Amino acid sequence: MKIKEKIKIGIDKIGFAMPKYFLDIRDLAIGRNENENKFVKGLMQSEMSIAPVTEDIVSLGASAAEQILDKEDKKNIEMIIVGTESSVDQSKASAVFIHHLLNIQPFARSVEIKEACYGATAALNFAKNYIEKNENASVLVIASDIAKYGIDTPGESTQGAGSIAMLIKKDPRIAVINDENVCQTRDIMDFWRPNYSDFPIVDGHFSTKQYLDCLTTTFDKYKKRYNQDLSNFSAFCFHLPFPKLGLKAINSLLEKNVEKEIKNMFLEKFHTSIVYGKRVGNIYTGSLYLSLLSLLENCDNLKAGDKIGMYSYGSGAVCEFFNLTLADGFKAHLRNNRLDDFDTRKQLSIKEYEAMFFEKIILDEEGNCDFSNSKFIQESDNAFVLEKVENHKRIYKKIK
Ligand code: HMG
Repeated sequence: MKIKEKIKIGIDKIGFAMPKYFLDIRDLAIGRNENENKFVKGLMQSEMSIAPVTEDIVSLGASAAEQILDKEDKKNIEMIIVGTESSVDQSKASAVFIHHLLNIQPFARSVEIKEACYGATAALNFAKNYIEKNENASVLVIASDIAKYGIDTPGESTQGAGSIAMLIKKDPRIAVINDENVCQTRDIMDFWRPNYSDFPIVDGHFSTKQYLDCLTTTFDKYKKRYNQDLSNFSAFCFHLPFPKLGLKAINSLLEKNVEKEIKNMFLEKFHTSIVYGKRVGNIYTGSLYLSLLSLLENCDNLKAGDKIGMYSYGSGAVCEFFNLTLADGFKAHLRNNRLDDFDTRKQLSIKEYEAMFFEKIILDEEGNCDFSNSKFIQESDNAFVLEKVENHKRIYKKIK
């Protein structure tokens, strides 16, 4: 009996959307009376994306997907999964709004998934399992978040906002998601956000220790389970709450006896994987995939067949180590001018940032709030914005 060859499933297209505004981390340091080197060198952060009230996880997620999807894709998508921890509703999934905004064929499943920054990685796994049984289907996975810790808190310098959209299908043109993976769950309180709180409660130093310990223990298990080691990989990407933690992560994988040349090769690639994260900040669920996008678009030493180790971590905590294999001609399906998007953003002063931070949707007695004349909508480069709330219903508008 002929054994059916396993189909290859993975990332066929990848898009990224961020708000128009950013704060220079040095301005934050001045505003908070901190030495700028604490943020610039200590966290290796340089800027962070700031979302106005007219951009939320729905508008950003739909905008990221709109960049990559064509009519044919929209006909073939059978499932939309949004990973987020900045949800706009306790019942209705953001994926349902996004399904409508993108005009995806109606016979699709649309859901939202949550486990802190890990959600989108679980979504990729579900997408892969679905396509294994439905070979011609595509799944749209979106990782969308707005990270807000609060003014003058230790986490403030690690905020960010943005969304990654990935089209998952068979014979992908960017990267195959391989079967080897190891997950780990630890019931810990390192970072959490109770329903009554606008901001997370964070045990910052404990969280960084857990992130690193989860990485080393999960990677050890992975090496034993699959009889692999560093030599099986060409590069690594990490969840990046701030780039310096990624640097600690890669250093923890490079065992003491690793040759200097190999160490430098991994470190050089690591630095290309943080180019975007340094300028966006933590985007929670999308952060690992922004590192991947940054690596693939900024590194010249990768080729088809190379294996990329991926470390996903969500506080609470769940983590996963898995890997991707780069597809033939992957570069042709990426951009080589994305940094232009960063350069055309508007820089905020610390005062403007604080005003934007505190702006909220304020409803009148009928549950209405109208942003249609807001300058944030006029200035946005994204495809979708939140235009108004009518009778407690969020209304989005396509502007591009
Ligand atoms: P902190 O305690 O104010 O800062 O906040 P610090 O004192 O630890 O300093 C930070 C670094 O700057 C240190 O480097 C200092 O030495 C250095 P390290 O020793 O660690 O290498 N430093 C300087 N360097 C040069 N010149 C100077 C200078 N001063 C200090 N003058 C903390 C840091 C990370 C705790 C804070 O930003 C925070 O709470 N962030 C939020 C939590 C977080 O990001 N945790 C990461 C792991 S958990 C995770 O990844 C999940 C998450 O994404 C959420 C989710 O899953 O949903 C957060």
